[in-house]
Amino acid sequence: MKTIQIHRYGGPEVLQRIDAPVPVAAPGTLLVRVHHAGINFMDIHTRQGKYETSRTYPVRLPCTLGMEGAGVVAAVGKGVTTHQPGDRVAWCIVWGSYAEYAVVPAWQAVKVPDALPLDLAAVSVFQGYTAHYLAHDVGQLGPGKSCLVHAASGGIGQVLIQLAKRSGARVFATTSSADKAAVARERGADLVVLYDQGRFVEAVREATGGQGVDVVYDSIGKTSLRDSFRAARSRGLIVNYGNVSGSVKDLDPLELGESGSLFLTRPRLADHLRDAAEIRRRADDIFGALLDGSLKISIAGRYTLDNVEEAHAAFEERRMVGKPVLDIINR
Ligand SMILES: NC(=O)c1ccc[n+]([C@@H]2O[C@H](COP(=O)([O-])OP(=O)(O)OC[C@H]3O[C@@H](n4cnc5c(N)ncnc54)[C@H](OP(=O)(O)O)[C@@H]3O)[C@@H](O)[C@H]2O)c1
Repeated sequence: MKTIQIHRYGGPEVLQRIDAPVPVAAPGTLLVRVHHAGINFMDIHTRQGKYETSRTYPVRLPCTLGMEGAGVVAAVGKGVTTHQPGDRVAWCIVWGSYAEYAVVPAWQAVKVPDALPLDLAAVSVFQGYTAHYLAHDVGQLGPGKSCLVHAASGGIGQVLIQLAKRSGARVFATTSSADKAAVARERGADLVVLYDQGRFVEAVREATGGQGVDVVYDSIGKTSLRDSFRAARSRGLIVNYGNVSGSVKDLDPLELGESGSLFLTRPRLADHLRDAAEIRRRADDIFGALLDGSLKISIAGRYTLDNVEEAHAAFEERRMVGKPVLDIINR
């Protein structure tokens, strides 16, 4: 079967097209014929080696890239009673979806409703689950609360705006260009401002009567985190859930005190998908919202196993708006 693997860490040149044997479903797992894979910034972080020493997301080389996908169960391993061949399933945070077949632990694979196309399912679970726990579990958003979402036209940004609005919160958003700002507005953000070298903070503070927001969602890290502190209200929450510009290595906790007794958290999706029931609960909400039209996730671009490098480049050059899909089989 065709796969895209990395045997060492680095730039797009380390992606290798390898013809590998079709794997066998080990006990407790499913062998899935992958129809579509989601393409994520996390694939780039993985390729660059940023998870080399991670305990949450241990990567072992060689690694078949891709940690999100949807397809049809081809075989079930010993002991699996929850799924059967022919089931349509979606999963994330399991490596190996840049391939024609993937082995997925049964507890991590959710059944996809018949009415939901598999390509939409493949681009919805990783961002959907992430935005879901960020909005509801970490931010505890609701009426009377306010939040700021950075990188608002990105894969997670677009979903987070919609879930935050749905909760009743007031949503501010930042992004880097007028075109991207239009996307964030379309997703429902109440006020969208360009970063403008940190001057977005004044706009956010002014719009909140000088107070700042309750929760700042920061996926950018190094270049934005200290501005995020300035945009939060006293005793507000900073959620640094990504580091696309690099991670902050020189933070003194005293800065949180000086910024208004802030709370800072660096959460991870794996800790918010602890068992099959938790995954099912998030999936039901995300799939249900996609089906009733209250959540919109549009596919930002279509790629194949022959040109996935182009998608990686679009992410790294900051050209990707929303969520691309990797078509493993023709639609
Ligand atoms: N903690 C978790 O549970 C969790 C779960 C899923 C993903 N993540 C992380 O969340 C982050 C976002 O993931 P995503 O797939 O949704 O990506 P994305 O937001 O679609 O893409 C990244 C966005 O970041 C902004 N950006 C700012 N500085 C950048 C830079 N130096 N290089 C590239 N982009 C830059 C760009 O938007 P502007 O041009 O508008 O700034 C860009 O569109 C990643 O770090 C990912 O690993 C974390």
